[in-house]
Amino acid sequence: MDKDFEAVILSACRTPIGSFGGVLKDISAVDLGALVESVCENAMDAGGAVEVSAQHGVNVTCRPVAISRAVATLIDNALKYGSRARVTLGRVDDCAVVTIDDDGLGIPEDEREKVFAPFYRIEGSRNRDTGGVGLGLAVARTTAREHGGDVTLDAAENGGLRVRLELPVATASAVPPAGKPEERFALEKA
Ligand SMILES: Nc1ncnc2c1ncn2[C@@H]1O[C@H](COP(=O)(O)OP(=O)(O)OP(=O)(O)O)[C@@H](O)[C@H]1O
Ligand SMILES: [Mg+2]
Repeated sequence: MDKDFEAVILSACRTPIGSFGGVLKDISAVDLGALVESVCENAMDAGGAVEVSAQHGVNVTCRPVAISRAVATLIDNALKYGSRARVTLGRVDDCAVVTIDDDGLGIPEDEREKVFAPFYRIEGSRNRDTGGVGLGLAVARTTAREHGGDVTLDAAENGGLRVRLELPVATASAVPPAGKPEERFALEKA
């Protein structure tokens, strides 16, 4: 084997798992209620009309930055296509369920899957000063699915849109213990 190539392989084998790109480092068990409230507060600080009612103590094992971004994206849509957002978080069986209702026009039933396709925007949106490119829902759903959950759409009671973000609740064995990422990884694999 070429000596340089061998040296590279050996060095990679000795690299601690926690040093690989932060993928494992990013995972932690979080109280989803606290995370959702914090995202809502940021939106309120930016002038958004957001109401939040979140149950605490619903823990999910996740990449908190990615989940915060997904929730922020969904609230951003509610405020862009409606004028106010009502956000709730509760537990249903083994699922943490975040709902975001708005007071906009909603999305017709036959468009509710299509809007998850990247760059797909409903015709009317293009004439509005919303400035989007059509990636928010696609990315939010990809993030949710990577966590074993999903994002789905429905009609809100007042005719606006209801967005539902579901994530599996952390089980005791799925909650990574505190410690260095490589130690946590070893425990999870054990
Ligand atoms: N809350 C909502 N009410 C009504 N229509 C919505 C809502 N959220 C999304 N849509 C429709 O779905 C389309 C896709 O939404 P998505 O968030 O993926 O992209 P976007 O908002 O257009 O752009 P961005 O990439 O900035 O998020 C929007 O263009 C809009 O037509
Ligand atoms: Mg959007």
